[in-house]
Amino acid sequence: MHRQTHWQSEIEKCHRMNLTRNIPVLRFLDVTHGVTEVGHRLFVACTNDYLGLRFHPEVIESAQKCMCGGGFGSSGARLTTGAHPLANQLERELADFKRSEAALIFNTGYMANVGLISTVGRSGDVIFSDEKNHASIIDGCKLSHAKVVVYPHRDVGRLRELLDEHRSMQSCFIITEGVFSMDGTVAPLPELLQLAETFDAHIIIDDAHSLGVLGEGGHGTLEYFNILPNPRIIQVGTCSKALGSLGGFVCGSKCLIQYLYQRSRPFICSTMLPASILAASSKALQILQGQPERVRRLKQLSEMAKSIFSKCGMVFPPEAVAILPIIIGDETTTMKIFENLYQQGIYLAAIRYPSVPLGHARLRLSVCSEYVEDEWRDTLSCIVNTIKAVVGNFPGSVPTE
Ligand SMILES: Cc1ncc(COP(=O)(O)O)c(C=O)c1O
Repeated sequence: MHRQTHWQSEIEKCHRMNLTRNIPVLRFLDVTHGVTEVGHRLFVACTNDYLGLRFHPEVIESAQKCMCGGGFGSSGARLTTGAHPLANQLERELADFKRSEAALIFNTGYMANVGLISTVGRSGDVIFSDEKNHASIIDGCKLSHAKVVVYPHRDVGRLRELLDEHRSMQSCFIITEGVFSMDGTVAPLPELLQLAETFDAHIIIDDAHSLGVLGEGGHGTLEYFNILPNPRIIQVGTCSKALGSLGGFVCGSKCLIQYLYQRSRPFICSTMLPASILAASSKALQILQGQPERVRRLKQLSEMAKSIFSKCGMVFPPEAVAILPIIIGDETTTMKIFENLYQQGIYLAAIRYPSVPLGHARLRLSVCSEYVEDEWRDTLSCIVNTIKAVVGNFPGSVPTE
């Protein structure tokens, strides 16, 4: 009974602070439009399906075919009931795409981070984690037996000092997102890699929001910086964003992948993804490689948004492509803008604490290569006008440092 009272008071606290999370029931009609239970049609301006692949007919067809031929569920973890040939095939394809020696699929990107970090971080090790890293990285760190040191966002100077202070520790890992999910900023990978070499550390890059977005071919952060993988670099990714499917993965040396295979509990102890999902991911990856124009179009539509917003004095991080956060700050104002836009038929997610710090609430605008240009332009104008109407003036410059 005591716990019930506590839970109720926490829920009421969320209401008072305008932090209550409500999940809208939304059925998607196509890549960019959804309709609510009461028939309210919405343009969804916050998708993670950056290349619109989840509605691609070939992606859907490959999943359907696979399901019809072999049932839906996978019936068990790979180590108990065996692996569908598509699991090995997709791992080869992902490893090649990330120019890595080998890959291992987990059920989600969240599990990939937790499964990797909790397994490699051992007692006597130290993990340096960017303060803006995703919850799955934070949870992976918590589950590891390593010491965890959080460094200020993209602050290479401070990280160097911290690495220096921890020279006596056994193994070091630097963990960063490639593209930061709530800010759109890009990790300073060349500098981080230099530090990793100086201090003999490994570097883990979570490319959840970089795949399909960064680099000419959408290969991610390494391609963007023209860096070739080496055994020091471990890449994490997910098929749930730009590939429009589901499933996380880790790419690295054969030795690392073999080690995870033997030791990583989220891999060992959880039922494998259905083969139809693997088929969809594989097809989406093929389409991405065959149609790099999708990546180019994503950048063009992003530039359009940046240009419209900059005319109002609002500047996004220059390197931001698919994620363009409009930082409002105050939670109540952010929700007012969200609700106003919702009434006008635009769904633009309001991100609040605990996803971002208190007082840093934002609207997470994101770009999809399949937005129709006129509709995108109209949507952007509507967002700009609504913010002006609610806030009075534009919140100003967005970069978070
Ligand atoms: C940076 C980052 N890493 C990992 C994940 C988890 O990926 P998934 O949704 O496939 O579990 C997310 C998803 O929100 C993310 O933003």
